[in-house]
Amino acid sequence: MWQSQAVADTVLVLGGGGREHALVRALARSASHPHIVVAPGNAGIARDARTVAIDAGDPAAVVALARDVAADLVVVGPEAPLVAGVADALRDEGFRVFGPGAAGARLEGSKAFAKEVMAAAGVPTAASRVVTTVAEGLAAVDHFGLPVAVKADGLAAGKGVVVAQTRDEARDALAACLDDRAFGDAGAVVVVEEGLTGREVSLIAICSGQTVARLPAARDYKPIGDGNTGPNTGGMGSVSPVPDIPDDVADDLVDAIHRPMLAELARRGIDFRGALYAGLMMTPAGARVIEFNVRFGDPETQVLLPRLTGDAVALLGAAADGTLADGPVDVNDGAAVAVVLAAHGYPASPRSGDEITGLDEAAADGADVYHAGTAADGDRIVTSGGRVLAVSALGTSIADARARAYAAAAHIRFDGRHQRNDIAEGLDT
Ligand code: AMP
Ligand code: GLY
Repeated sequence: MWQSQAVADTVLVLGGGGREHALVRALARSASHPHIVVAPGNAGIARDARTVAIDAGDPAAVVALARDVAADLVVVGPEAPLVAGVADALRDEGFRVFGPGAAGARLEGSKAFAKEVMAAAGVPTAASRVVTTVAEGLAAVDHFGLPVAVKADGLAAGKGVVVAQTRDEARDALAACLDDRAFGDAGAVVVVEEGLTGREVSLIAICSGQTVARLPAARDYKPIGDGNTGPNTGGMGSVSPVPDIPDDVADDLVDAIHRPMLAELARRGIDFRGALYAGLMMTPAGARVIEFNVRFGDPETQVLLPRLTGDAVALLGAAADGTLADGPVDVNDGAAVAVVLAAHGYPASPRSGDEITGLDEAAADGADVYHAGTAADGDRIVTSGGRVLAVSALGTSIADARARAYAAAAHIRFDGRHQRNDIAEGLDT
């Protein structure tokens, strides 16, 4: 592969959300002072890196861009390109890639596959059945009782899961997937799962083969409203650390979950190089996996990467190369809190085109303002998606980070702006 000695490394980042903006900022802090190219990026990322408007899910287009910019490392942000085999296409051409190939990405691309691997690996998860008709689904609902989770097997942009409180709700969710094909082929197979209760936690590890470098635990706040009310969203805020998951507990969880999964993948000939995200429910009977993602979380990344004390280019590059050191990733002792600012109408029908002001004032307050759904309109920055921005702040404690994030977010204005006011509330012990 082409390797320049004279100029800084070029890192190509795929994706265009708040997670990718946080990746770009973390990579930019590297001692190697990389040249960063992002495809497609967004209006905020374009202030920090070169952006190129290609389809990150198109393997041929991505390979052509990687060649064009002579990428030394490609970091894949979202799941869709991974499931589509973009990492494989890049590796076939000799590029160093952070992100699993399509075979490993099936852990996120098919919930039935993830369940099968978990069973083989002995990883604790909710009891479930895979069904293809509403009648089979209702039999499973009757078997597990209520509440029950009804999950489209494939990728559904975060909308494929319904936790039904009644049999009618479960039937509607099954029919939407299996009869109405609300998610196309992604809902042709459905996983029906026992309802679990407990606190949720996101435990993300940077993995390479069977080597695991875990990040601290993080928590994502999914429902739109304060007190976890209203419909689920892509995530309205996040915090790290999570006081109920201290480092020794996180180490035990990685031993019980990530390591056996990687061993089982290896047994199947899959060399997983990327981020393995376990979404966990801490039930009275212990931790249970509710989902695996094969990428960094959004908005968890917006609180995890600002805490990194090491070099992100070296870390992700080592995972790509198979030279990763096992053990926890070094992070600062403090905390980070991110507050998402959402557009009018989110999540049902977010409005675009509202002008955003106060971005520079928020940054001047010491926060990282990560762009997600923004676009440039001449000199103005306007909304262009449901989750518009994530305002992330570091602090000496969770309460300190929380106060800083909310103070910075208060500078930012746009019509219809919505935030949750209880992100990371009451977590300091
Ligand atoms: P997902 O789209 O897989 O992230 O799931 C969305 C949300 O549904 C999760 O964050 C949980 O809050 C909830 N959920 C998923 N599976 C279960 C389950 N088995 N029991 C209870 N809640 C669940
Ligand atoms: N924060 C949830 C996710 O990234 O899927």
